[in-house]
Amino acid sequence: MRGNFMYYNPTKLYFGNDSLKYLESELKNYGKNIVLIYGGGSIKKNGIYDQVIAILEKLGKSVVEDAGVMSNPTIEKLYEGVEIARKHKADLLLAIGGGSVIDYAKGVSASVNLDKSLDPWKEYYLEQKECEVKPIPVGTVLTMVGTGSEMNGGSVITNPSQNLKIGKVFGDNMFPKFTILNPEYTFSVPRYQMVAGIFDIMSHIMEQYFSGEDDNTSDYIMEGMMKSLVNSSKIAVKNPQDYDARSNIMWTATWALNTLVAKGKTTDWEVHMIGQAIGAVTNATHGMTLSSISIPYYCYILPYGLLKFKRFALNVWNVNPFGKRDGEPYKKSDLEIAKEGLTMMSEWMKEIGLVMHISDLGVTSEMYDTILDGTFLLDGGYKKLTRDEVLDILKESM
Ligand code: NZQ
Ligand code: ZN
Repeated sequence: MRGNFMYYNPTKLYFGNDSLKYLESELKNYGKNIVLIYGGGSIKKNGIYDQVIAILEKLGKSVVEDAGVMSNPTIEKLYEGVEIARKHKADLLLAIGGGSVIDYAKGVSASVNLDKSLDPWKEYYLEQKECEVKPIPVGTVLTMVGTGSEMNGGSVITNPSQNLKIGKVFGDNMFPKFTILNPEYTFSVPRYQMVAGIFDIMSHIMEQYFSGEDDNTSDYIMEGMMKSLVNSSKIAVKNPQDYDARSNIMWTATWALNTLVAKGKTTDWEVHMIGQAIGAVTNATHGMTLSSISIPYYCYILPYGLLKFKRFALNVWNVNPFGKRDGEPYKKSDLEIAKEGLTMMSEWMKEIGLVMHISDLGVTSEMYDTILDGTFLLDGGYKKLTRDEVLDILKESM
């Protein structure tokens, strides 16, 4: 393990089907003024809203609601949220939902005390500046699993008028102060969102796994996480109420992107860059933007990181390194093993019901240029792509 690093994660987690009971003691650490942030209303249907409101009322908190945070939250909505939080003199932003709600809350948190002449979109997302003002603390109750936003500094915001969807990775001052993880809260997530979230987790792990040449503990941790995820995902699609499966998926999601497994490594993130550019023009579900390009992407990258793809095939997909030809046993080549791993991944993706083509997300060839303009090209993986290579991958993904 060759990298030099500092590791610190300030988010306090409460995990399990009784975890909401800790919300009360956490809320006592903050002032009276709470902005309750949530999405389109799923929390009202599944009862989480009522449970949280009862706790807030018991503590006598002054609550203002900031509802209607959409999937792939927009900068326009974020401007509104900043005004709400300023007006209410928020002591805490309590985000109840999935990645969209939590990402949005972080964007609001970093912007409330920003000088009014400065535009958060320009400062944080376009120009990627650090947050130098005092953030408003964020606490979360997670209801949809995938992004890892519950224990990281990520905040992805879409600007539809500019056809851009950009992630800002804030520092540890922007990580949620506390997060409540109750796997039962995810039981009501629609199947499409559930499998999209599962692939988002897989993609986060792969973005960090497919890099580097050294023997690195992080890679071994990630192989274990991927095996657990694949196993639990197959169970969850058959029975979404399987507590063991849903709790494993929830925990894997958090660890896939809470900065731990990136330690000591460079990381790729090109699938996310292309996926976000697709999301900016289609508003498609994040995990599906990733699934629809992943097989063409990894087939293209495979020769540049052959030994890692072989290891992935053997250690995650249990590919048999020996085959039979004309009835005789033989040792498969590295390339054969590596390709078989991706074939098994592709079969698993189809089995759990992921979108495998960008055309199924509404992408047309007329959108290629806009997608390419919005795709940042990164160099942390095995191959830095050119614009033309991304175009080939898009065509292959149609
Ligand atoms: O809005 P409501 O009504 O709550 O419905 C949501 C939404 O429609 C629904 N949902 C959530 N919990 C539910 C539920 N429905 C029933 N029962 C429940 N318990 O699920 C839908 C999707 O929610 P959303 O928050 O949009 O999904 P997700 O968690 O996948 O978040 C996606 C956003 O996160 C960003 C993505 O780009 C996208 O904008 N990401 C954030 C990252 C980070 N912070 O580190 C990294 C990721 O790579 C990702 O880019
Ligand atoms: Zn993601």
